Amino acid sequence: MRVGVLGCGVISHTYLTNLRRYPQVSVVAVADLVTERATSTAAVHGVEAMTSPAGLLERDDIDLVCNLTVPQAHADVTARAIDAGKHVYGEKPLAVSPAEITPTLAAAATAGLVVGCAPDTFLSPGQQLARRLLDEGRIGTPVSAAASWLSRGHESWHPAADFYYRAGGGPLFDMGPYYLTVLVNLLGSVLQVSAVTSTAWTTRMLVVGDRAGEHFAVDVPTHVSGLLLFESGASATVQMSFDVTGDVPRRLEIYGTEGTLYCPDPNGFDGDVGVYADGERRQLTVAADGDQRGIGLADLADAVRSGRPARASAALSFHVLEVMDALHRAGAERRVVDVASRVTRPVPLSPDEGWLG
Ligand SMILES: NC(=O)c1ccc[n+]([C@@H]2O[C@H](COP(=O)([O-])OP(=O)(O)OC[C@H]3O[C@@H](n4cnc5c(N)ncnc54)[C@H](O)[C@@H]3O)[C@@H](O)[C@H]2O)c1
Repeated sequence: MRVGVLGCGVISHTYLTNLRRYPQVSVVAVADLVTERATSTAAVHGVEAMTSPAGLLERDDIDLVCNLTVPQAHADVTARAIDAGKHVYGEKPLAVSPAEITPTLAAAATAGLVVGCAPDTFLSPGQQLARRLLDEGRIGTPVSAAASWLSRGHESWHPAADFYYRAGGGPLFDMGPYYLTVLVNLLGSVLQVSAVTSTAWTTRMLVVGDRAGEHFAVDVPTHVSGLLLFESGASATVQMSFDVTGDVPRRLEIYGTEGTLYCPDPNGFDGDVGVYADGERRQLTVAADGDQRGIGLADLADAVRSGRPARASAALSFHVLEVMDALHRAGAERRVVDVASRVTRPVPLSPDEGWLG
C-alpha cells in the first residue's frame, strides 16, 4: 500500500523511520501546511515532498494517508482524505470530539474506505502478553484496574507544546488514549464514567525551541481523576495530569479475583509484565524490540488487503474518544455520563502473521 504522510512535525520522523520495517507499505510523499517542513523531512527520509497537502491528496498513486497533523486538524484532514478516496491511519486522538468525526466515519464506510488510529502500543509484545495472561484466566475474573500518567506537561521538551493545551489536548486526550486503549483491549467496552477535573495553571509558557518564552492560554482540564464502569462489571480509576511536579511512576494494573496483572507502560513498546498469582509475584521478561510506532498502520494495510478488521481501528479509537469526551463532560457537569458506543476487543496479534515481517 502506497502511503502519503500529512504533517511533518516531531513524530513524523519516527513514522518515516519505522514504516521501512514493513514491506507491505511504502511512503511515496509527504506534505505539510509549512512547505519547508515537508521539504526538509523528505530530504532526510528520501521521499518526495509535495508543495501542499491538497496536492498530495490529488495523487492517484497514494492509497493511504497517514495523518500526523495536530489534534485540532485530525478530523478535517481525515475528512479530506476520505473525500479523495484514500484509506486513513492517523495519530491520536481520532478527533477533538465524537461529533466532529462521526460524519466522516459514515462517509468512509459508504465508500468502502478504512480508517484507523493510533495508539498502537497495545500491539506491543508486553501488552499482548498481558492480554494472553488475562484471557487465560491467570488473575481470575477482572474486578478493577488502575491507570495513571502524571507529569508537569509537555512544554519541557516540545517546541510547539501549546497545541497540547487546546481542545483535543490536555493530559486525557493526549496520554489517555494509550492507557484507555489498553484497558479496552483487556476489559472491553466502557459503559459509563464519572470524573473530577481541574486546571492548576490557566497560562503556561513554551520553554524550548524558537518560540521559547511565549505564553499561551490553557483551554482544557490539566488534571483528570476518572472512574470507569465497564460492560463486564469491572471498574477502573484513571488519573491523567499535566499538573504534577516530580517523578511519579506510571501505572497500569488489572486486579482480578485470583491475582494482579502489572502491565508495561503503554506510552511505549517495551517493558516486562508482572503477575501476582498463587501467593507470589513473578516478573515475565519481554524481549525489547524498540519503538514500533506504525505497526497499527501496517496492520491496517494488511487488513485492507486480506479483508479482515484492522486492530487499531476507527471503532476502537472512536470508543476511546467517546470515553475521554464523557470524562471531560462528567467533570464539567459533575455527573455520571453514559458512553453510547460498544467495541469488540481487537483480535490478539499472532506471531505467525506474515505481514509482521
Ligand atoms: N511528538 C510526539 O512525541 C508524539 C508522540 C505520539 C503522538 N504524537 C501525536 O502526533 C501528532 C503530531 O504531533 P507532533 O509532535 O508531530 O506535532 P508537531 O506540531 O511537531 O507537528 C505537526 C505538524 O502538522 C502540520 N499541520 C498542521 N495542520 C496541518 C494540515 N491541516 N495539513 C498538513 N499539515 C498540517 C504542522 O504544520 C506541523 O508541522 C499529534 O496528534 C500528537 O498527539 C506526537
